Amino acid sequence: ADALKIGIAGLGTVGASLVRIIQQKSNELAVTCGRPITITAVSARDKARDRGIDLSTVSWFDRPEELAEKGDIDVFVELMGGAEGAANISVRAALQRGLHVVTANKALLAYHGVELATIAEEKGSLLNFEAAVAGGIPVIKALRESLTGNSVSRIYGIMNGTCNYILTKMEKEGLSFAECLKEAQRLGYAEADPAFDIEGNDTAHKLSILTTLAFGNQIAADDIYLEGITNISIEDIHAAAELGYRIKLLGVAQRTDTGIEQRVHPTMVPVDSVIAQVDGVTNAVAIESDVLGELLMVGPGAGGNATASSVLGDIADIAKSQPGAQRVPVLGHPATTLEPYRKAQ
Ligand code: NAP
Ligand code: HSE
Repeated sequence: ADALKIGIAGLGTVGASLVRIIQQKSNELAVTCGRPITITAVSARDKARDRGIDLSTVSWFDRPEELAEKGDIDVFVELMGGAEGAANISVRAALQRGLHVVTANKALLAYHGVELATIAEEKGSLLNFEAAVAGGIPVIKALRESLTGNSVSRIYGIMNGTCNYILTKMEKEGLSFAECLKEAQRLGYAEADPAFDIEGNDTAHKLSILTTLAFGNQIAADDIYLEGITNISIEDIHAAAELGYRIKLLGVAQRTDTGIEQRVHPTMVPVDSVIAQVDGVTNAVAIESDVLGELLMVGPGAGGNATASSVLGDIADIAKSQPGAQRVPVLGHPATTLEPYRKAQ
């Protein structure tokens, strides 16, 4: 089958991880995706920057818009960030051109998701965004695919790795808020402007996307009660612990008799609850629905590899869905190539 040609705009924490994984796993991906995945073009701001990845065989575009409009690509992968500017313009251009798009950009979707989805639907393109909410946790797939047929009543959870990392480190290691934030930035968890993390906006962006998937409403990212963690002190954390609680930044969306309620705020959760045990950069999303009951998904919520894992899953879905793909392996690998089982000694 023909290779799926990928153009990546943004080679920072997530983009560089994605390039590394696609290059390292090219043989394996060609089998599991039904066709080879080839990066043909990239874009970032600084061409000279050493990113620790091999870009010798790909075309470089100074402007992501140009990559979207003219690159020799089937899929435009947007990993720059920001609701406006280059991300918005280039994703729009790629969809208008009839390309498939994969993005990890929750700010973009929170403010332009409906328009972008409209263009994608009109053009028959796929717009995949698993990485935009809760990093490596496949919550978009759960809502969009697995829970089809369920009526969701409530969705809530820890959706920002940076905040959960800060709260955990403050409690367990006694470090200051500023020290913990600096470390989260160093590890590649925080947004380019970390105010989006600590003031709760990033959780609100993610919650607004989940709300739309769960309840079928227009995205309402600004209609969310919003309180971040900037006022949480070590004393608050200790006082909560003495009462048998831990403090977590939660996003909550639920159906009520009068409409949908969305809120983001620090919450005292009982220490023996599952969500209280979710530490560090880990995220957790709970979905309550009529047929299934409660589903709780827990996993890495930020960072290069966790996020690239979801981006790659979205790319693989596109590769498998295109005409000419080799038969998609039912068991993850072609049935005829499965290795004999070797029992551990
Ligand atoms: P990042 O490390 O700041 O990288 C951003 C990349 O975009 C850089 O390579 C930068 O180029 C490039 N860029 C920015 N503006 C550009 C422009 N106008 N034209 C061309 N290139 C531009 O960000 P990141 O952490 O990888 O995040 C990328 C996206 O993924 C964001 O939407 C973020 O919210 C989302 N996300 C991140 C994580 C995470 O854990 N980091 C998790 C989930 C989702 P230079 O390198 O040349 O400066
Ligand atoms: N800054 C975000 C976080 C990245 O810390 O959760 C993942 O969306």
